[in-house]
Amino acid sequence: MSADPLLIAATAARNKAFAPYSQFKVGAAVETVDGQIISGCNIEIASFGLTMCAERVALFKAVSDGQRKFRRIAVVTDTPQIVTPCGACRQVIWELAGDIEVMLRTLKGDQYVISANELLPYAFDATVLQKK
Ligand code: THU
Repeated sequence: MSADPLLIAATAARNKAFAPYSQFKVGAAVETVDGQIISGCNIEIASFGLTMCAERVALFKAVSDGQRKFRRIAVVTDTPQIVTPCGACRQVIWELAGDIEVMLRTLKGDQYVISANELLPYAFDATVLQKK
């Protein structure tokens, strides 16, 4: 286990995952620029399209708490390879947190760090919606 508090929080959140259908538990944690950590887990719903990924739970919790500036997000899975965020989460990470560091980690300790922009190049975002 890493000593990085962000990874510790994401790992702890994973244990709270509600994934009765896939059994695929994911933990995430986002760090604000002033060092606060907000975590989230995936939550599955029988009407599957309503399921929410851990990354979005963490970011929505943080924004709902008034946080708007972020430095990093960590995502933890128990998989042979690291898992990258789904397309919806990439969009949400980009829009709510910008080009932050995304730490992808497995329980056995493999890790990959990538930027939000690398995950979602050529993003559609608010800049396109500005009135001329
Ligand atoms: N999931 C996440 O929470 N984050 C990811 O990055 C990948 C997928 C969840 C959604 C669903 O509950 C389960 O993993 C299987 O797709």
